[in-house]
Amino acid sequence: MARYGPNEHDVLIIGGGGAGLRAAIAAIETNPNLNVAVLSKVYPMRSHTVSAEGGAAAAIKTNDNFDLHAYDTISGGDWMSDQDAVEAFVKEAPEEMLRLEHWGCPWNRQDDGKIAVRPFGGMKIERTWFAADKTGFHMLHTLFQTTLKYQNIRRYDEWFVTKLLVDEGRCLGVVAIEIRSGKVEAILAKSVIICTGGCGRVFPFTTNANIKNGDGMALAYRAGVPLKDMEFVQYHPTGLPFTGILITEAARSEGGWMLNKDNYRYLQDYDLGVPQPKPVLRSMELGPRDRLSQAFVKEQEKGRTLKGPYGDYVHLDLRHLGEDVMNTKLPFVRELCLKYENIDPVKNMIPVRPVVHYMMGGIHTDIQGATPLKGLFAAGECACVSINGANRLGSNSLTEIVVFGARAGKAAAHYAAERTSMSPSVAKLTADEQKRIERQFYGGGTRTEKIASLRKEMHEAMENGAGIYRTESSLKRSQERIHELQERFKNISLSDQSYIFNTELIAAIELSYMIDVAETIIQSALSRKESRGSHQRTDYAKRDDQDYLKHSLAYQTTKGSPRIEYLPVTITRWPPGERVYGR
Ligand code: FUM
Repeated sequence: MARYGPNEHDVLIIGGGGAGLRAAIAAIETNPNLNVAVLSKVYPMRSHTVSAEGGAAAAIKTNDNFDLHAYDTISGGDWMSDQDAVEAFVKEAPEEMLRLEHWGCPWNRQDDGKIAVRPFGGMKIERTWFAADKTGFHMLHTLFQTTLKYQNIRRYDEWFVTKLLVDEGRCLGVVAIEIRSGKVEAILAKSVIICTGGCGRVFPFTTNANIKNGDGMALAYRAGVPLKDMEFVQYHPTGLPFTGILITEAARSEGGWMLNKDNYRYLQDYDLGVPQPKPVLRSMELGPRDRLSQAFVKEQEKGRTLKGPYGDYVHLDLRHLGEDVMNTKLPFVRELCLKYENIDPVKNMIPVRPVVHYMMGGIHTDIQGATPLKGLFAAGECACVSINGANRLGSNSLTEIVVFGARAGKAAAHYAAERTSMSPSVAKLTADEQKRIERQFYGGGTRTEKIASLRKEMHEAMENGAGIYRTESSLKRSQERIHELQERFKNISLSDQSYIFNTELIAAIELSYMIDVAETIIQSALSRKESRGSHQRTDYAKRDDQDYLKHSLAYQTTKGSPRIEYLPVTITRWPPGERVYGR
């Protein structure tokens, strides 16, 4: 039996959400002798997976099959998805859903006891498994309680990673702050899996929790791993205007309508990729998210949106669904509207606007979750495998976290089992990082920059220049501002100079992660001179398969903007075509 120091593990997972917990279970089930650890900056049940609402896609009905799910995913992603990854994904999706069922996930059922599935945006067939409109909550609970069965899964709750330990081209673990004490320590591992979620907080209006700051993306990027396809940022068409809180697509799948200021179902005027000449009325609210968000901007330009204290909005009308449907299928939507908008959707229309929801891009991995850095793996929203291409279809991401969480967990377990020893270089690397944190954030009496102001300026730069529609000049303006913020960050001042539960310190480091990630979004968007999926350049309005059917890879450079390289998209059976939806 191997011997371990107190902070030494075979597999260390950063992030305690759905992908991280699924990875932990897969690692321990691959090899029960392994010593596995899950480190999370929040208690795992507070991870953002908990707020996912609508459901998880997996082909289960008799009129559905893997190819249909694959095709919807690939065309929805505007042909940027790697098709080998999509094929693996759709095949393993139902197995993972059933596994969750066996572990206790309370999926909704039909009257005959079979699994109930609901339609979702861009999916031609009903294949979205759901647990009312609290699917993420139930999945996370199920995974969390399953990890508790295993003695060999240790948890570091409320620890925050500041650096990956890398030596001789291999990841050796992390340096992390134990938030309650402020101790900065090395945690060593033979393999590390990053499962830290996305970076929606780089933008001002987002469905993402405050914790989604691109931590894992920035950690990998700083360690030399490229971030892939960062230009593809998904706006969800129905967020609450002030808080950004998600009003699930399930509300439209149950029959909700999108109305402009004239109470007109405006989506019928737009090309949503549904059958022409006019979208089918039943399906238009379930068009893909990129097209729905773009239609909002067009309505805004025509002066047909409503004006509110937090910007323009339209209405989501659920009143015709009735109280029974609201209470049984959409109870959380009702609760959120009552609590955060003081309105009851049974009687009132809901104000909504597009808000940043999901990053299609992320840490470059292969189909097993391995990054180019030996010993480092990634899964979930922080990773880009890539199945989601230029636009993810709703309900594919909850499935993705379990399918690719499991894959990464297995691969990391195999990798760890083959390694024999930890490297002696970690003591120095850790001491260097401890000094860096001390130098940068403590004792700097003359520093003047404040976290809140820099974060606000970053938000403005990103929303104004790198939002739903972009141009060369808007992106360049944003880039200049973000470069300036990078410089100003060096002068950041913390009013809390203590060590114990210093949330200001954590917020400052999170901001530094977001600024790094913002740079990759902008540079990748500047370099992609075409429009595809969620990346819409008004100066290059067409999709250009000739020059841009390829993934972007953003590498950190020592000075200035990231360097962009490209990688071909893997096409197996579905050559690029038109995006067509409709049911
Ligand atoms: O609207 C929603 O429930 C979101 C689901 C998703 O992003 O997959």
